[in-house]
Formats: sequence, structure tokens, C-alpha cells
Amino acid sequence: MNIIHTVGLSRRYKNFQAVDKLNLEVPSGSVYGFLGPNGAGKTTTIRMLLGLIQPTGGNAHLFGLDVADSRQRPAILKRVGALVEMPALYPHLSGRENLEVTRLLLNADKQHIDRVLKIVNLMDAADKPTKTYSLGMKQRLGLALALLNQPELLILDEPTNGLDPAGIHEIRDLIRMMPQEYGITVFLSSHLLSEIEIMATHLGIVNGGRMLFQGTLASLQAQRESHLLVGVRSPVDAVRYLNQSGWSAVQQNGHVKVTAHDPADAALINAALVKQGMHVHHLTLEQPTLEDMFLQMTGNN
Ligand SMILES: Nc1ncnc2c1ncn2[C@@H]1O[C@H](COP(=O)(O)OP(=O)(O)O)[C@@H](O)[C@H]1O
Ligand SMILES: [Mg+2]
Repeated sequence: MNIIHTVGLSRRYKNFQAVDKLNLEVPSGSVYGFLGPNGAGKTTTIRMLLGLIQPTGGNAHLFGLDVADSRQRPAILKRVGALVEMPALYPHLSGRENLEVTRLLLNADKQHIDRVLKIVNLMDAADKPTKTYSLGMKQRLGLALALLNQPELLILDEPTNGLDPAGIHEIRDLIRMMPQEYGITVFLSSHLLSEIEIMATHLGIVNGGRMLFQGTLASLQAQRESHLLVGVRSPVDAVRYLNQSGWSAVQQNGHVKVTAHDPADAALINAALVKQGMHVHHLTLEQPTLEDMFLQMTGNN
């Protein structure tokens, strides 16, 4: 089941298409990374998912319910915890008191305050004023606030933005364990592939408001095309022979560049060339990293 499902979700500002026909599919139990450079349309999308702004096209369903339906929206939002930008905290109140304010608004049970403080590891600092908190602690308190109403879905907009490496580490570990430990599906945005790579099970890559890829990390990895760079005495002959044998080879800087889908292709290509009497004196596998793929997809913006 998809916890979030959008069809053609779009948002236009005057002549500017901020979000363009997004079909999001966020499976239950996933940590879904919504990845894109600044200005890609991530926050606009999240605002539409939360019913904070109206789409100019398409629709969004959470738990199978239409967010645009104002009668259903309260029931939908009760099941969602959200952290969009830095949490608004009362600086003179302690972490526990900040939670208490929201707890009263939500009419949630008192026991939930200790529960969420434990989850985000803020028990020791719970009674200190939040103005003494580090950025990472504030962000963790924001997460605690989002967890107060025992949501089934957490929506987090760039939750590690502005944090130092230690802060990033803590948030990262917290988010990663949400589905298994608490049965919470997580949808989070980021402009950093390195983060998504570590936290997410699924990802959507967005740029200029459009979805460029959606699927598991493994399926993105499977899409990458590797190349073998082969050094032989006569590249012209080698290229001709390899292309005749069903490989895809070109000459590049005096080397032969062969498209490979599997690292094991190196052995096959080597054996084939040697059998033709063309001795291979150099062989390297060039495999793009996910970062390379991300930059390639989003680079022309
Ligand atoms: N209220 C608005 N009016 C006009 N343009 C907007 C508005 N909100 C966002 N945009 C534009 O939409 C694009 C996407 O913005 P945003 O969703 O904030 O991107 P991201 O969160 O991925 O950085 C940006 O180019 C931004 O300038
Ligand atoms: Mg944003």
C-alpha cells in the first residue's frame, strides 16, 4: 500500500511551474528520500501534501484519502507528524514545557511526553530552556513534537539542514529506525544525495518540479552503466572486433572504451581480445557513483 500517492500533482506560480505533474508513490514502511537541488520544488510539494497550499493541478492522497477534501483533512493530518523548516519553539520554556504546550493543543495523553523525549534522546536536557539547546537538539525536539500524536507518517523537510556532523548523525539514526521500531513511514526531503543514500530505502529525484527517477536505491544503482577502459596495441582493430562480437566499443584517447553492465564483463572482454592475439596491457572499470548519476540528472539546471 502507498501511504502517499499523488497523480499529476502540480503547482504554478504566475508563469512559473514550481511542481510539474508529480506522481509520488511512497510505500508503507519505507523511508522515502525526496531528493533535488535547491529550487527543485520539494517544499512546495510538501506544503501541498499537508494541505497548506492548494495544487493548481492533480491530486494528493495520504492513506488513500484525498487531501483536497476539507472534510477529510483533519482526520488525515491527525495521522501525520510534520517538521517543515526549523521548529517554532518557546526559547524560555524547557523542552518538556514546549512539548506540554503542543500536547495540550493535541489533547494527547501525558505519558507521550516522556515517550517522545526518550525516542529523540533528550531526557537529560528536557528541563533546560530550549534557548540553551544546540541546533541539533532543537531539531530533535522538533522531531519529538512531530511524534507526539503517534503519527503513522512523518513528513520532514530537509531535517538535517544547518546541523553539524554530530547533529546530522543523530537525526539520521533516528529517522532510519522509524519504520522498524515504531511502524512509521518517513517522507523526507534533502538536497544531499549522501544523506538520502544512508537513510532512505526509496527515493524520488526531482529537478525543476519534475520527477526524474523514482524507485528503490538498488534499482537506481542497477541503472548505472559502467565502462571498461582497455589498452591494446591496435585500438582500431580492437574496436572493430569488439563491435562485431556484440559489444559496444569506441576509441577514446588511444584506449578502447567498452560499455559493460557487469563487472564480470572485464574478464570476458579480456579473454576475447587475447584470443584474437590482441594483448591487453591495461584494463580499468569505470563505474559512476550515485553522486555522478545525481549530478548528471540534475546538472543542466
Ligand atoms: N510563493 C511563491 N511564489 C513564487 N514562486 C515560488 C513560491 N514558492 C516557491 N516558489 C518557487 O518555486 C520553486 C520551488 O521552490 P521550493 O519548493 O521551495 O524548492 P525546494 O524546496 O526544492 O528548494 C523555486 O524556484 C521558488 O522560487
Ligand atoms: Mg525547500
